[in-house]
Amino acid sequence: YLTIDDFDTDGKTILVRVDLNTPMDPDDNILDDMRIRSHIPTIKDLDDAKVVLLAHQSRAGKNDFTSMKPHSLRMSQYLGKEVKYIDDIFGTHARNSISAMEKGDVILLENVRFYSEESLQRSASDHAGTHMVRKLSPLIDIFLNDAFAVSHRSHLSIMGFTETLPTGAGRVMEKEISSLDRGIKGGERPCIFVLGGAKVDDSLKVAENVLINGGADKVLVTGVVANVMLAASGVDIGKTNLDFIESQGYTDQIERGKQVLEKFNGKIGLPIDIAFNDGGKRTEAQVSELPGDGLPINDIGLETIVAFSEEIKNAKTVVLNGPAGLSEISDFALGTHEIIKAAVDSEYSIAGGGHISAEVRNLGYEDKFSHLSTGGGACIDYLAGEKLPGIEALKIAATRYRLNR
Ligand code: 3PG
Repeated sequence: YLTIDDFDTDGKTILVRVDLNTPMDPDDNILDDMRIRSHIPTIKDLDDAKVVLLAHQSRAGKNDFTSMKPHSLRMSQYLGKEVKYIDDIFGTHARNSISAMEKGDVILLENVRFYSEESLQRSASDHAGTHMVRKLSPLIDIFLNDAFAVSHRSHLSIMGFTETLPTGAGRVMEKEISSLDRGIKGGERPCIFVLGGAKVDDSLKVAENVLINGGADKVLVTGVVANVMLAASGVDIGKTNLDFIESQGYTDQIERGKQVLEKFNGKIGLPIDIAFNDGGKRTEAQVSELPGDGLPINDIGLETIVAFSEEIKNAKTVVLNGPAGLSEISDFALGTHEIIKAAVDSEYSIAGGGHISAEVRNLGYEDKFSHLSTGGGACIDYLAGEKLPGIEALKIAATRYRLNR
């Protein structure tokens, strides 16, 4: 794929798809601005151009499905110059604003998901025929996809412009690809993946792929993923936990977990003890002696924390995806915190997914990780060896660009 370095950006109008999707409270206050900060280097590298930013916030129907104005204000603070918010995506106001830009200007268009065609999963050529692409493309010289975190979706603003404009990757995209590649391909051995959180199907897919292709020497499971795997190994995790797994649509993953355990015997590390949530209080139990009294399992237990930390410390590459427990409640953040602390001792450490990245920052360990991924679903798909449509589109666009020159 091409990058900013492949283009002469001087005086050009550059459309940059960024991922500014951010946790926000009901009053539109930004609760975590990691993604907003992440794109600053890309924009700084385009200071000789006119930069048009396009982004989404949340999804239709959710409480935090809001305008991009708060993001523009926060971004202006980090950039040290105005990022002008335009409350339009491709209408007359947006197009006039783009046409009136001068070198060095940065504008942020409205939440691209306010336009319903954005969220259709379609091919690049289908998206290229849409109103948005047809209206904006004539005003733009170069398209950059810097939104790694949404590049697992073949959405309009990820795919459409790659057909109509010279296209490359922004700095976030470049860094994500090279850092995650190092974790899954060229990393130092032994390499351990610690898979937690609640996206059980994705995590099992990652486990299978990295163990099949030799990307990891061992996979340790925590979070809801661990509960499913414990059930798969024959442990009675209790009705409450089984009901929760069912409510998330993951009951079939128990059967899949059995197959994974059979196939990769010894390469999957399961918790030996867990922490129940007993009316908000943390109580520990061995998995061999679970009382089956229906309490929710909300974290890995202390012995598991010690054992997993030991394994993690002996690994040279560690990839963390998803929290080990209910990390938003301090009593149940213990497993997540201790695993984060163990991981920073390894030579190469990666953390991906919103919850665990937030805990890394809460601990002040941001600089201790080799790479903190901006991606949630995108990071896990990439680690699982899936092809991300947004990245594939960048490769196709690069070939087309080179052929046409
Ligand atoms: C994310 O938060 O993972 C990305 O911004 C993608 O958002 P989505 O899951 O709503 O498509």
